Amino acid sequence: MPESQSNIRYFDVVLCVSRALDLLSPVLSDHHQRTAYVAACIAEELQLDAEQKRDIVVAGALHDAGAVSMSSRLALLQSALPGHECDCGEDVHRHGLDGYRLLHEFEPFANAARAIRFHHVDWEGGRGAEFDGEPVPLASHILRVADNVAILPRRGDNILAQARHIRALIRAHAGTRYREDLVAAFEQAAQRESFWLDLVSPYKEEILRPYFGTHRVALASDALYELARLLGRIIDYRSPFTVLHSANVAAAAQRIGELAGMPPSQVRILGLAGQLHDLGKLAVPPEILDKPAGLSAQEELIVRQHPYHTYRILSMVPGLEEVALYGALHHERIDGSGYPYRMRGMPFGSRVVAVADVFAALTEDRPYRAGMSWERSVGILDGMAARGVLDGEVVALVRRDPGAFGQFVERRREPASRGVAQAAAS
Ligand SMILES: [Fe+2]
Ligand SMILES: [Fe+2]
Ligand SMILES: [Fe+2]
Ligand SMILES: [Fe+2]
Repeated sequence: MPESQSNIRYFDVVLCVSRALDLLSPVLSDHHQRTAYVAACIAEELQLDAEQKRDIVVAGALHDAGAVSMSSRLALLQSALPGHECDCGEDVHRHGLDGYRLLHEFEPFANAARAIRFHHVDWEGGRGAEFDGEPVPLASHILRVADNVAILPRRGDNILAQARHIRALIRAHAGTRYREDLVAAFEQAAQRESFWLDLVSPYKEEILRPYFGTHRVALASDALYELARLLGRIIDYRSPFTVLHSANVAAAAQRIGELAGMPPSQVRILGLAGQLHDLGKLAVPPEILDKPAGLSAQEELIVRQHPYHTYRILSMVPGLEEVALYGALHHERIDGSGYPYRMRGMPFGSRVVAVADVFAALTEDRPYRAGMSWERSVGILDGMAARGVLDGEVVALVRRDPGAFGQFVERRREPASRGVAQAAAS
């Protein structure tokens, strides 16, 4: 395996997630990257150390991860716009807490998660030093400023012409919404035209990259798998009906890979592909994911875009090429009737994930039906293989191991199945 494929840069993965998070609100262009950038500039002015700056950039890039399941998300994100006061109530802090819960167990993101938890807490003349009896980190208050600055530029207008107005809006809330010293640090950075040009620049990734150093993670490492599992949780958490879906697809794909005699490195790639295959679903509004009846033609067109986004986002991460290929082609079909590439002759790994995806979906509850038994699910897989839609060889592997797959379905039905399925996916 070439060197470039054996090591993945953390930076690329974090940026890939932040791009995915921005899919849901295209109206707020690159909101997460902009927030990361402004937070980094404030951290520079404060002369924080390298580790603190990296944590703040990670926090900025992921800060609204907990808001992806909220239909009120757009209102929430736009709450900083003049005339858009948010009446999101408790939700405003709820998504910070949800983001914290999603991210904090992954050790490299632990500090960022703490910052995210309180990123909507106002300073209120010092009362915001604590929230819910807990100290609010400096990084949360930095995010508070950065989040709002990031959202204020109007699209289409010259950014330099807007700078004075945005600075005045931020200054107006010094001491109430924002810490005074952080407004001062922002003011310092905002004197430079380059600050504003970078804020709206399409080259921001190059600007943010140095904050991550050269930290890399091996493709086969547990750390990368943990990270993929965390992303799988963000994807799944959006709908109560898909709460274990990515973990289930990962577990099924890995078991099929083992039964096919694939080497452990390929089985691991199947697991990563399973965890990430629906990444593009972050572009699908939660109301559509949870819809109790059939989708309208318009909604169907929105859903059908998701594997395309999965491919485009994952394939931008050097080292994840196979993961992108195996994961993103899960709606392609052997006879070319799938989408979005209408591909025939998919790689074997993609065929495995395609079968794992259908199997997992059949056995899970959906808004319009209950999850099916192993027997019934495999019967449907057989039918699809007979029609030349799924790979018959792969389906035969599922049939070959009723013990593993049958048990897997049963365990999933138990109320406390989350931990079990996640353990199965590890
Ligand atoms: Fe937020
Ligand atoms: Fe935000
Ligand atoms: Fe999918
Ligand atoms: Fe799926």
